Amino acid sequence: MVGSLGLCMVFTIFALAYASPKNVPILSFDEGYTQLFGDSNLMLHRDGKAVHISLDERTGAGFVSQDLYLHGFFSASIKLPSDYTAGVVVAFYMSNGDIFEKNHDELDFEFLGNIRGKEWRIQTNIYGNGSTGIGREERYGLWFDPSEDFHKYSILWTADQIIFFVDNIPIREIKRSEEMGGDFPSKPMSLYATIWDGSTWATSGGRYKVNYKYSPYTAEFNDLILHGCAVDPLEQSTRCGEGDADHNSLSEIGLISSERKGKMEEFRKKYMTYSYCYDRIRYPTPPVECVIDPHESERFRGLDGVRFGGHRKHRKHHHRSPSSTTTTL
Ligand SMILES: *[C@@H]1O[C@H](CO)[C@@H](O)[C@H](O)[C@H]1NC(C)=O
Repeated sequence: MVGSLGLCMVFTIFALAYASPKNVPILSFDEGYTQLFGDSNLMLHRDGKAVHISLDERTGAGFVSQDLYLHGFFSASIKLPSDYTAGVVVAFYMSNGDIFEKNHDELDFEFLGNIRGKEWRIQTNIYGNGSTGIGREERYGLWFDPSEDFHKYSILWTADQIIFFVDNIPIREIKRSEEMGGDFPSKPMSLYATIWDGSTWATSGGRYKVNYKYSPYTAEFNDLILHGCAVDPLEQSTRCGEGDADHNSLSEIGLISSERKGKMEEFRKKYMTYSYCYDRIRYPTPPVECVIDPHESERFRGLDGVRFGGHRKHRKHHHRSPSSTTTTL
């Protein structure tokens, strides 16, 4: 117990020193976002500084940034619904699927609910230029209960790298490489937050459905950060204002010292429960960017049965249905 608390504190202190962009304005809902769907299932609180989105038997709900961004630091403090949440999916992600239907880019945090007494799991994923045939999912446990309090989930996206953070701790880094080519997201994206019914796949591959007896399920969002330059997606012209993210300030957030890298590896060793790189059923030959470690290979054998597919975040508004792979492990 003391050990894990200690680890937590080390993580926190270290993270504050490295991963907090300075003077990043926290926008109210009306300043940066619009409702996407879900009518009264989206509610504003604290003068629009807090957003609640709910799922009930009628509908889920979601919101989207008013602008598209090419690179930036995107973050929210999120508190997930508690208790029986099987089948419930909360997604915090970037996408341009509405504009580039055939070759969209995407960066995902997905929170997958669970049956009572079992923790939420988080999944990260990326698609680039329509690479929906290759899911790059990773799944993790957490060192806290994400339904008990607010925790910060952030995505850093620069021209060279993508880093996912939880409470400022880097949990996944994707470096741009020659071999990945267009699979590395490179077109402007919007930021989205949604809650929806993922009964068909979210919990144990669809074995546990959403039970509306326990609804509404409400996810709460605070401290919404859009730290990037708004971009016209077709002309690619940027509208950078004062205090907006430039290349240097983003690179600073993404600086990975060896100490920091160690923390990330520590997290991954302890909490990662699935990685596409070790899924020999889906990928007999791992995708090019994978670096295979024989020890991890052994560890991931048969862990965390996952079915991929049915990747629909907000049914009504998305016409695409990426990833039609349905692999049952
Ligand atoms: C992205 O996809 C389009 C069409 O599908 C292709 O023409 C283009 O070269 C791709 N871009 C990259 C960077 O791979």
